[in-house]
Amino acid sequence: MKFETMATQGFLDFKKQNNSISMPIYATTAYNFNSVEHAIDLFDLKVAGDIYTRISNPSNDITEKRIAALEGGVGALVTSSGMSAILITILNLAQQGDEIVTSSKIYGGTYNLFNKTFKQMGINVKFINSDNLENYEQAITDKTKCIYAETIGNPKIKIADISGLAEIAHKNGIPLIIDNTVATPYLCRPFEFGADIVVHSTTKYLSGHGNAMGGAIVDSGKFDWTQNDKFKMFTTPDESYHGVIYTKEFGNAAFIAKSRTHLLRDLGCCQSPFNSYLTLLGLETLHVRMDRHCENALTLAKHLEAHPNINYVIYPLLQNNEDYALAQKYLKKGASSLLGFGVNGDGTKFIEALKLFIHATNLGDVRSIITYPAGTTHRQLSDSQLLDAGITKDFMRASVGLENIEDIIEDIDNAIEQSRK
Ligand SMILES: Cc1ncc(COP(=O)(O)O)c(C=O)c1O
Repeated sequence: MKFETMATQGFLDFKKQNNSISMPIYATTAYNFNSVEHAIDLFDLKVAGDIYTRISNPSNDITEKRIAALEGGVGALVTSSGMSAILITILNLAQQGDEIVTSSKIYGGTYNLFNKTFKQMGINVKFINSDNLENYEQAITDKTKCIYAETIGNPKIKIADISGLAEIAHKNGIPLIIDNTVATPYLCRPFEFGADIVVHSTTKYLSGHGNAMGGAIVDSGKFDWTQNDKFKMFTTPDESYHGVIYTKEFGNAAFIAKSRTHLLRDLGCCQSPFNSYLTLLGLETLHVRMDRHCENALTLAKHLEAHPNINYVIYPLLQNNEDYALAQKYLKKGASSLLGFGVNGDGTKFIEALKLFIHATNLGDVRSIITYPAGTTHRQLSDSQLLDAGITKDFMRASVGLENIEDIIEDIDNAIEQSRK
């Protein structure tokens, strides 16, 4: 199936679904065992099947298979939020004393998880200036377990050089993890450029309507966990699961199998089947929505570029953007709804004058949303951290929705005018 067909129809099984053409919501916690032997086989991982919804659920299974197929991976796991997907991904391969290398220009929530919670757990995250690939290489030590990056960084809209990062990671025997939330597999499929694991906040474009929290982890199945002795958690017996050795039992799906049977089981951040249903509903129109998001955002970006009271515009597909060449390579179909700009006026007045743009902290919603990072998502950061993240006081981040583009432009123009009064 091509992308659009997979997005709308993938993995529906009408016979299993009583001929319902929409995905059924399996609102159940537990599953009947056919016999004691069946229960034993399920617990011993000898047969596939559901035991308890904290670990798997038939509704979630459809959403997982479709997301995995859209990314081109061997398997996926849906979780309660994007943050829990990132948490499980990192804890699946790193423990106390280990290190991770990432950019200082990543999503503020991830920054806090890495900088505070992981620090408390003894996992040291090195934040580097990602303008130069060599900085990643220099930060890697024997203890480093992965490189972590965002395809399109939130909120500063920096593009990751995925193939360059993959080369550095693989040279050092570690995987590249990519947060593909903002690009979505419709605009970029990181596995095609060498990434090993992809994470998503499905809260954003994949569900698409601002109504369902969720996350996903996708395994490319390409990373060889046995190539060195850095990843013993995959190659030695897991006592908490009858001594299973993940690479032996699950082959190239070891990463995703361990994330479910070990960490989803223990941490409990599973996705509600109802949210899986909403996410699948969103996936069915992903390609159509993304095209319009990209078209509206590029039109607004070009309009703002020519506006006398705008200090700067950040949109990767503007020719003078510093990441234009990277965007041409990785984002051939468009650069998402995310657009940044600096207003030459009073920021608060600007936000308050907007009528159509909703002032909220989200992106990838069908509705246009404006965020003021210095005052909201990045409020916890110190002045020097803000500087590292490239956030200035005039910086606005828009997620351009699917409304009529003339209405969108009129709303922004009016707010700029008001901000200068
Ligand atoms: C790039 C990125 N990754 C992860 C997250 C976290 O996702 P969630 O809010 O679903 O936990 C966000 C949220 O804004 C995000 O923008």
